[in-house]
Amino acid sequence: MNSGVLFVCLGNICRSPAAEGIFRELIRREQVSHQFRVDSAGTGHWHVGSPPDSRMIEHAGRRGYDLTHLRARQVDAPKDFDGFDYILTMDFSNRSRLHQLMSSAEPARIEEWKSKIHMMTSFCRIHKIDEVPDPYHQDEQGFEWVLDILEDSCAELLAHIKQQMNR
Ligand code: 4NP
Repeated sequence: MNSGVLFVCLGNICRSPAAEGIFRELIRREQVSHQFRVDSAGTGHWHVGSPPDSRMIEHAGRRGYDLTHLRARQVDAPKDFDGFDYILTMDFSNRSRLHQLMSSAEPARIEEWKSKIHMMTSFCRIHKIDEVPDPYHQDEQGFEWVLDILEDSCAELLAHIKQQMNR
């Protein structure tokens, strides 16, 4: 069975496209790309249609992740809540915003949608951290730190989903 994975941050130009690029590379290496639908989106609208932040393109590129073809889009509610199986939020604010976007739906649907949402950091095995910090106003180290966290969490996320698929 195929799995839909959506990574969500605020602008969809730093954290979530990086997560998308890393996850795509992992599933390509494991030759399981055909079993996944992977995308990313932002809760904000400001950068819709833009490529990822040039600093993230640069830092991710150095690690072998090509983000150049990605373009920002905003979360499309409720379509994305129905269309994806795993929705990974980068911080608590992103998660709250998704919960807000659900709030007018029926309780049963809200419950089903909420069960798809996970904090990205909940999959970290190496780094102990609650949120993926917003690197937008950070220096180069901030971008490297985000990539460290995302490599850690993406690896475990893939292992987790594969385990669920084989059940
Ligand atoms: P992202 O980072 O949520 O990781 O894409 C940000 C990008 C842009 C802004 C904030 C965060 N902004 O305020 O424009």
